[in-house]
Amino acid sequence: MKYAFPDNFWWGSASSAPQTEGETLAFGKSATIWDKWFEEQPTRFHHGVGPANTSTFYQNWKRDIALLKELNHNTFRTSISWARLIPEGRGEVNQEAVKFYNQVFDELHAQGITPFINLFHFDMPMAMQELGGWENRDVVTAYAEYAQTCFELFGDRVKHWFTFNEPVVPVEGGYLYDFHYPNVVDFRRAATVAYHTMLAHSLAVKAYHERNDGGEIGIILNLTPSYPRSQNPADVKAANIADLMFNRSFLDPALRGEYPQELVALLKEHDQLPVCQPEDKALLAAGVVDLLGINYYQPRRIKCRDSLVNPDSPFMPEWFFEAYEMPGRKMNPYRGWEIYEKGIYDILTNLRENYNNPCCYISENGMGVENEQRFDENGQIQDDYRIDFVSDHLKWLHKGISEGSNCLGYHMWTFIDNWSWCNAYKNRYGFVSLDLATQQRTIKKSGEWFRETAAKNGFDD
Ligand code: BG6
Repeated sequence: MKYAFPDNFWWGSASSAPQTEGETLAFGKSATIWDKWFEEQPTRFHHGVGPANTSTFYQNWKRDIALLKELNHNTFRTSISWARLIPEGRGEVNQEAVKFYNQVFDELHAQGITPFINLFHFDMPMAMQELGGWENRDVVTAYAEYAQTCFELFGDRVKHWFTFNEPVVPVEGGYLYDFHYPNVVDFRRAATVAYHTMLAHSLAVKAYHERNDGGEIGIILNLTPSYPRSQNPADVKAANIADLMFNRSFLDPALRGEYPQELVALLKEHDQLPVCQPEDKALLAAGVVDLLGINYYQPRRIKCRDSLVNPDSPFMPEWFFEAYEMPGRKMNPYRGWEIYEKGIYDILTNLRENYNNPCCYISENGMGVENEQRFDENGQIQDDYRIDFVSDHLKWLHKGISEGSNCLGYHMWTFIDNWSWCNAYKNRYGFVSLDLATQQRTIKKSGEWFRETAAKNGFDD
């Protein structure tokens, strides 16, 4: 086979509790920021569709796990909902949630599918947000208690844990660019949120390692390689700053246990450093992960600013760079994101050369398609574009592995079309399509391709 992957390669897909479980305010679950925001401003959500409208994994878990099995998954990622497990954020555990997650983990194992479990996928419980969310150090401690509860309850069967999915996204969305609650635009507060998130991460990693459970713990980062418009020093500097702010501010603490000095110096120069406590340094050093999840969708193209910044304007990342629309770049015509398959290889090469070749896997990669509900005469979606997208990325991944990268698997985003925050069902990513009204699931052509690829542990051209 031309693209054969290593033995025991992880083939699977990723999803999350808030995007699939449904039953948002039932069975003891309390509201998250998403329930709250939808209640306040439903028009911010595509077609006014809110977080209750999902594939209802809470009820359909058995049927969906059977589908995962049919699609030859050996691994599957989802998350635990903090607001479901500990409705007040701290304190009493909801026994209905314990029963639910126990059933899910047991069934996954019964089907030969290893659960990869993430603790936080953008879904801050409202009870915690009311205390200030990640801006408040008490919430950091509450998160660590929640993580420990999960390890105690499920650690016998879950051996692959993740502290956060894409921690930069709530920072960007909630505190810089207004696409997540609480819709703040303030760099200093964003920096505090980012910093406290990594402290919370480190507390969870430290606690897990102290348990000696025989499993591993990691973090899932959306790495966006930053490519400069040219090799002109101003463009290169601009791209480096974007890389520092959006990638290395999470990657370096996760893999090296400390922040890049260049980032600290930059924030200090502009008086944007978050408040640090003397014990933080040792805590961050304890946050080095066993396994890095890499979400890759698209790169960042960067150029230096054409005009000088007005020094009276609020401090923002865009003080240092601008997005660059590279002529001729390949675009996903159905989502408006660039497709650059080699990016996945560049990420692996960077990790190999500059971060001591950590254990990693591709935790998300996939193709969003607007208005995808086009079925052929046999009732199937012929998504050859998605097969091309995935196989083209896998080819570059294969090259990275053959050059020595320590990449152990590939998870597609996602299994079933799911609710995606403010975009709701605008961009569908599943290799199983979902009819929201009837809850019917139909395997797309890409699902069949994935089933075969996983079974053969690779593919030919
Ligand atoms: C990923 C997130 O980055 O992007 C998912 O982890 C999200 O939660 C996915 O659903 C797709 O986003 P969108 O905006 O294209 O629907």
